[in-house]
Amino acid sequence: MKVPIALTVNGRRREDAVEPRLLLVHYLRDVLGLTGTKVGCDTSQCGACTILLDGLSVKSCTLLAVQADGAQLTTIEGLQRNGRLHPVQEAFWELHALQCGYCTPGMILQAVQLLQERPNPTEAEIRHGLEGNLCRCTGYHNIVRAVQRAAAAGR
Ligand code: FES
Ligand code: FES
Repeated sequence: MKVPIALTVNGRRREDAVEPRLLLVHYLRDVLGLTGTKVGCDTSQCGACTILLDGLSVKSCTLLAVQADGAQLTTIEGLQRNGRLHPVQEAFWELHALQCGYCTPGMILQAVQLLQERPNPTEAEIRHGLEGNLCRCTGYHNIVRAVQRAAAAGR
């Protein structure tokens, strides 16, 4: 059995019929081909699958695609504007806030949400805001610096 869904992904209207058991992350990756969203654990631990749903960050491995019916989604592919990187993407690039890059899409989208809530966060608030996103490479230091840089750019 398949269920019809209609949603907007990165500004583009999508209509599909999906199995009710299909996870949102698999819908994004396997149906829409948006493979920037990663699967790191499938158990809600790592944050690699983080996207924005109606402006709020969610772990897309914890939702079914049918639960996103009617929603507006933003994935890492949708952050740039007219070929220009989002300020958080720019800061990650400039400060080398990544190594293998597997955590990076989720980390960036979580940072975008963090800065929407707290445009001028302290270092402790940044670390707290990103605690649901794991990185096994960087030691987090440059990630925190990149979020500070993006916050400064937004002031
Ligand atoms: S894949 Fe979703 S939290 Fe790890
Ligand atoms: S850069 Fe490799 S997991 Fe974060």
